[in-house]
Amino acid sequence: MDVLKRLDEIKSDFEEELTHCRDAGDLEAVRVKYVGRKGELTGILRSLSGLSPEEKREAGKRANVLKNEFAGSLAEIKERLKSERAREKEGGLDVTLPGIRHRMGTVHPLTRTMARINEIFVSLGFRIAEGPEIESEFYNFEALNIPLDHPSRDAFDTFYIDREYLLRSHTSNVQVHVMQRQSPPVQVIMPGRVYRPDAVDATHSFMFHQVEGLLVDEDVKFSDLKGVLSVFCKSMFGEDIKMRLRPHFFPFTEPSAEVDISCIICKGEGCRVCSGNGWLEILGAGMVNPKVFEAVGYDPEKYTGFAFGMGVERIAMLLYGIDDIRLFYENDVRFLEQFI
Ligand code: PHE
Repeated sequence: MDVLKRLDEIKSDFEEELTHCRDAGDLEAVRVKYVGRKGELTGILRSLSGLSPEEKREAGKRANVLKNEFAGSLAEIKERLKSERAREKEGGLDVTLPGIRHRMGTVHPLTRTMARINEIFVSLGFRIAEGPEIESEFYNFEALNIPLDHPSRDAFDTFYIDREYLLRSHTSNVQVHVMQRQSPPVQVIMPGRVYRPDAVDATHSFMFHQVEGLLVDEDVKFSDLKGVLSVFCKSMFGEDIKMRLRPHFFPFTEPSAEVDISCIICKGEGCRVCSGNGWLEILGAGMVNPKVFEAVGYDPEKYTGFAFGMGVERIAMLLYGIDDIRLFYENDVRFLEQFI
């Protein structure tokens, strides 16, 4: 139908002309041209009488809709031009108005702590390696000399996915991957997430982070382990920190030790954080068990090495004085934005 086509043309001409209007005079000219007494749209409405009843109905409806639309657009542009004028009169843009404040993101305290730990070991010549979080029993247990009847292989102590696969319960699995991939010397740290089906409370979470370390070469001694850990503790917690090793047992290291630092809150006097004894346990360590070397195909007669593993949450809690592990995972910005 020709009238409808014509109406479409009128609409696009009208919109085009509106964009060129700079003042009320321009607007008035456009108004007269389209919806004035002799305007284009008015003309169409008038000529409808010559059409068939059906055409008349359709074209009439469309023309009336356009008439309303045009009136609306004219009023809107008029307002816009008016406020632009007013702003110009006041001297244009007011640069003294306060700006829009953008919220700055911050690095998560766990990411920060992990980055700091990595940085210290990298400065000592360690490389960073990563491994899978979904792991087979071989890498998480067997190759690490953890026998079938060990309590950690119970379903209550590890998240099993099926009979063979599980969520790794420590980062020690990465030791095995790294040693299978390369021959000594090895000097790596392995940060990552680990999973244990612990009931969640102020100090336990079903998911947390560890940083594992491994150094293998000819003639590596226990004193090397102690030296590296002592440099780490001083860089992480301060030069005046004291470190002690207590005998312990891990299947994958022999001998093994738990490492304590003097309490960073009370400096060893005894307080609530260190349960009154002046020491805080921060990691497990030891000399790599020859059985682990056998499992990865290293010659235990030729090579010795040490390994250690620490919990990142625990260290971050001590460093920042955080008393509830759940705060790390709740994404509450009031907590997170304190770590700038
Ligand atoms: N894998 C041990 C744990 O999760 C930590 C550890 C790593 C101990 C390496 C000794 C050597 O508790």
